[in-house]
Amino acid sequence: MKKLLLVVLLPFMASMTQASEQAVSAYYAKTCGLCHATGAANAPKTGVASDWAPRLEKGMDTLLHSVQNGLNAMPPKGMCMNCSADDFKALIEYMSAAK
Ligand code: HEC
Repeated sequence: MKKLLLVVLLPFMASMTQASEQAVSAYYAKTCGLCHATGAANAPKTGVASDWAPRLEKGMDTLLHSVQNGLNAMPPKGMCMNCSADDFKALIEYMSAAK
């Protein structure tokens, strides 16, 4: 019975992950990416690990705090008014991963 439940639930769980990944890339394109894709105003550039290394050293909590409150040229919430803390975390992970 337990096995059957897993078989039924797994594809459902997988499709949920996919949906939120799509949401994250949609947010990225409309908000963070505007600055972080080009490195405008010294924003750490998406996919450039050396830009992100000194940021990641501060720890995810500090980075979340920076995004939510803004930091220098970055506006509060990085212009993503609908983003949750989990979305910000996913966006930071997305941008800081080497491409
Ligand atoms: C208007 C341009 C702009 C947008 C939009 C923007 N950022 Fe930034 N971001 C910056 C700039 C500029 C910096 C560098 C700030 C500094 O260190 O002076 C930065 C820095 C950061 C940092 C490093 C913070 C730290 O403490 O070192 C993180 C994390 C970050 N951005 C995440 C995001 C996320 C997530 C989004 C989208 C929800 C986003 N940014 C949207 C311009 C932007």
